[in-house]
Amino acid sequence: MPETISIAIDGPAAAGKSTVAKKVAHELTYIYVDTGAMYRALTFKAIKDKVDLSSEEEVHKVLMNCDIQFEQSKDGQLVYVNEEEVTKDIRTQEVTNHVSAVSSYPSVRKEMVNRQQKMIHGRNVVMDGRDIGTKVIPDADLKIFMVASVEERARRRHEENVRSGYPSDIEELKEDIKRRDDIDSNRQASPLVKAKDGVEIDTTDMSIEDVVKVIMDLAKEKGGQ
Ligand code: CDP
Ligand code: CDP
Repeated sequence: MPETISIAIDGPAAAGKSTVAKKVAHELTYIYVDTGAMYRALTFKAIKDKVDLSSEEEVHKVLMNCDIQFEQSKDGQLVYVNEEEVTKDIRTQEVTNHVSAVSSYPSVRKEMVNRQQKMIHGRNVVMDGRDIGTKVIPDADLKIFMVASVEERARRRHEENVRSGYPSDIEELKEDIKRRDDIDSNRQASPLVKAKDGVEIDTTDMSIEDVVKVIMDLAKEKGGQ
């Protein structure tokens, strides 16, 4: 059995990555790292500092002065930027609108990948994002590529908004998801692609529990326990 086990979960927006990754990490008692939250935290900070988001240099400068930390609480994972709690702030529509552009800068990705690799060094981990199996943990024990139809993904985000009492338009959500998928899949620096040795799971017609079970079975085959 390998000394440590790492599970990489990649895929497009709202495929179910973070929900499932958290549950798998909980069942295996591994740490969970939400790399999307790191790109969101940077985007939030750059907007707050009124930085020109079209300047890679300016955005990179913000990142170099931006300490991003996670903390486990009974209500889930909290996100901090320079010791300020920003868990909710990083999920606003404004951040969502700009995060893929910010994430496309090679210098930003290089620094983020560096930080992510340091964070997990020598630990059992479930990590989700867009480039985990291809770039952050290229030798991950298990690589999942999670997908679902755009219609289903928009429906899931819509339900989430309705549950939280936020205004929501399913057609707008569909367009937003398509736009982000397009930027994430076509950028030069580590685009969203399935790793050669990745296992694709189409979650369109699957419940969260079904997906968790498939991944748990695969993880056990790799020695996860
Ligand atoms: O909204 P959703 O949960 O699908 O996305 P997220 O995981 O919070 O990630 C937000 C954005 O960060 C993505 O659309 C990507 O542009 C970027 N991202 C990335 O480029 N690489 C990662 N490893 C994780 C996220
Ligand atoms: O992390 P990612 O953007 O890939 O998706 P998520 O935030 O984990 O999931 C988006 C929404 O879809 C959440 O409200 C989940 O509860 C829901 N979901 C679902 O209905 N069925 C699944 N198989 C997976 C997620």
